[in-house]
Amino acid sequence: MDALIIQGNRKLQGSVAISGSKNAALPLLFGALLFEKTVRYQNVPRLWDIETTLKLLAEMGAKSSWDKDNGTVEIEPVVHTPRAPYELVRQMRAGILALGPLIARHGHAEVSLPGGCAIGARPVDFHLAALERMGVQIQVEGGYIHAKVRGELHGAEITFPQVSVTGTENILLAASRAKGTTTLFNAAREPEVVALGEMLQSAGVAIEGLGTSTVRITGGDLKVPARPIPIRPDRIETGTWVAIAAATRSELEILNTDTSQLDAVLDVFRQMGVGLESLDQGKRLKVIPAEAYRAVDVETQPYPGFATDMQAQLMAVMCLAQGKSRIRETIFENRFMHVAELRRLGAKIEIQGKDAIVHGPTSLVGAPVMATDLRASASLVVAALAAKGETKISRIYHLDRGYQKLELKLSRLGAEIARVKES
Ligand code: UD1
Repeated sequence: MDALIIQGNRKLQGSVAISGSKNAALPLLFGALLFEKTVRYQNVPRLWDIETTLKLLAEMGAKSSWDKDNGTVEIEPVVHTPRAPYELVRQMRAGILALGPLIARHGHAEVSLPGGCAIGARPVDFHLAALERMGVQIQVEGGYIHAKVRGELHGAEITFPQVSVTGTENILLAASRAKGTTTLFNAAREPEVVALGEMLQSAGVAIEGLGTSTVRITGGDLKVPARPIPIRPDRIETGTWVAIAAATRSELEILNTDTSQLDAVLDVFRQMGVGLESLDQGKRLKVIPAEAYRAVDVETQPYPGFATDMQAQLMAVMCLAQGKSRIRETIFENRFMHVAELRRLGAKIEIQGKDAIVHGPTSLVGAPVMATDLRASASLVVAALAAKGETKISRIYHLDRGYQKLELKLSRLGAEIARVKES
């Protein structure tokens, strides 16, 4: 396993380009299963989760090619085994996104039930209940979801009890080939959902209300989009770089981004006193740090609220702010795993139920720490870059799932960072 060694308390300088979004790419790649001909993509990030997705598709029979340097992927969606095995779904919960398109195209599927993960139980009951309403018979046995269409896959009225991003994506994927109209109430409004909906629209599916909480999808025949499907810039990577610039008090320029997807996150950094200048219609973002930051109160919410995927990185910056900050985590029940590790660097954080109370400012000091999940790892990188001395972050395979070439991007900006092998 690899670890990162960071010598912190260094100022960074320059510009950094944002890669394609992992969470946007995954549903779009699984979406290839809906088609009969080769589907092409561009700006695909070079990440483990993409590797795992292509492996999953290959297990089913689909052939794909990935030009990692150019970020292009081609998928020939020939499926002989509509099955997503546990060995791969346990590595990447988003494997559940195979369910909707396999059902829609092949009428049956076996998809491993994703287990819980470090941040919570994360069940998929909303996905399954919605598919049942669309005429799918579901049986869970031996750790697998066995799904089979009874008669015909048809439209339905579905209300999610809570906003679910991949739940909404699975229903969009299934409904795009179902007979009639599916109306989804309390749908997720995340930009990744909108990107999937737009891809389906360009394939000929009629979708109304995309980006709102009521989405209507009328299924039909799909035609492969004429142009390669572009993967939009990763909004969470952008937010992470804002946190890095703020924590290291470095003026950085973030390129290839889209600030229109980040209003809530950027607002919080502005309230803390971080200077942010959006340029070129939001494609470029200049971050101007301050000597002292103000404490803030934040609650994670579904989009357009403050993203839970930015909570851990923000918490690292809160450690440097003057006074008492608070984060209330409302999406996942166990998403404070990074707190114990941040405390090892000297952070003063209390947990009270859903709230983390951060007392600042703290002078962070390097220490050995352990990454527990993807965004927790990113928060440790932010804190380590700000801390005096050396921090060793173990188990960074989590980072490789979601950040393309993070240490390379950091070292180009002047960070002292090295990847080492650990037994
Ligand atoms: C997606 C993102 C993840 C992000 C999360 C919330 C991808 C691949 N992952 O995860 O990075 O942190 O959205 O923005 O896009 N729930 C149920 N039953 C269900 C589905 C969800 O109880 O059937 C609960 C979850 O346990 C959680 C909440 O609903 O508490 C939201 O989860 P959801 O939006 O589904 O998260 P993911 O789609 O897994």
